[in-house]
Amino acid sequence: MNPARIAPSILSADFARLGEEVRAIEAAGADWVHFDVMDNHYVPNLTIGPLVCEAIRPHVQIPIDVHLMVEPVDALVPLFAKAGANIITFHPEASRHVDRTLQMIRDHGCQAGLVFNPATPLAWMDHLMDRLDVVLLMSVNPGFGGQKFIPATLPKLQAARQRINAHLARGGQPIALEVDGGVKTDNIAQIVAAGADTCVAGSAVFGAPDADGGYQGVMQALKHAALGE
Ligand code: DX5
Ligand code: ZN
Repeated sequence: MNPARIAPSILSADFARLGEEVRAIEAAGADWVHFDVMDNHYVPNLTIGPLVCEAIRPHVQIPIDVHLMVEPVDALVPLFAKAGANIITFHPEASRHVDRTLQMIRDHGCQAGLVFNPATPLAWMDHLMDRLDVVLLMSVNPGFGGQKFIPATLPKLQAARQRINAHLARGGQPIALEVDGGVKTDNIAQIVAAGADTCVAGSAVFGAPDADGGYQGVMQALKHAALGE
């Protein structure tokens, strides 16, 4: 089995030292940088935009995974592509024309994905499988770091995994299955067993105590636990 990817969410990083923070997580073995964009409209919080993405881009080699919690979506796609994003995901409820937005992301040279809130049905995938590089299941309601994992995400992950595997079996392109919210060393094994191959972790990574080996220690602990070790 491939080890799960870990995508630390910089929402929980020290924003006054962001360059240093992303270099540190890359050195600690992070696979993607998860970049949470909130607009105080689609979600009740306000974070960072393309300027910050451009500022951190030279500090890391790993992909930048931009999670757009914004409405509307389309105008930001070219700006994030230009700012060095590699993956751009958005919430289908926030786009008037979901298929068009997915195409637009790929046309700008990025991988494209849809994000499913806890109450958003997977049926949004039905007519879009060919357009997806990533499916991201929210395991908390979007807007804040440090929330508790919603257990109903586990059967939903299994259902998403079945759809992706069926798509692959029909000769479809690979689609990453990512989970976001409340991922910790004590639940990541169940999450990966349910079918996730990519785990976002914000507070678990950036809140890791130095006494437990800091970022390096928690990244190793997450990867080991994800393998069921
Ligand atoms: C929530 C964000 C998450 C968040 C995860 O809206 O999309 O990426 O930062 O943080 P933790 O891992 O602390 O739940
Ligand atoms: Zn996120």
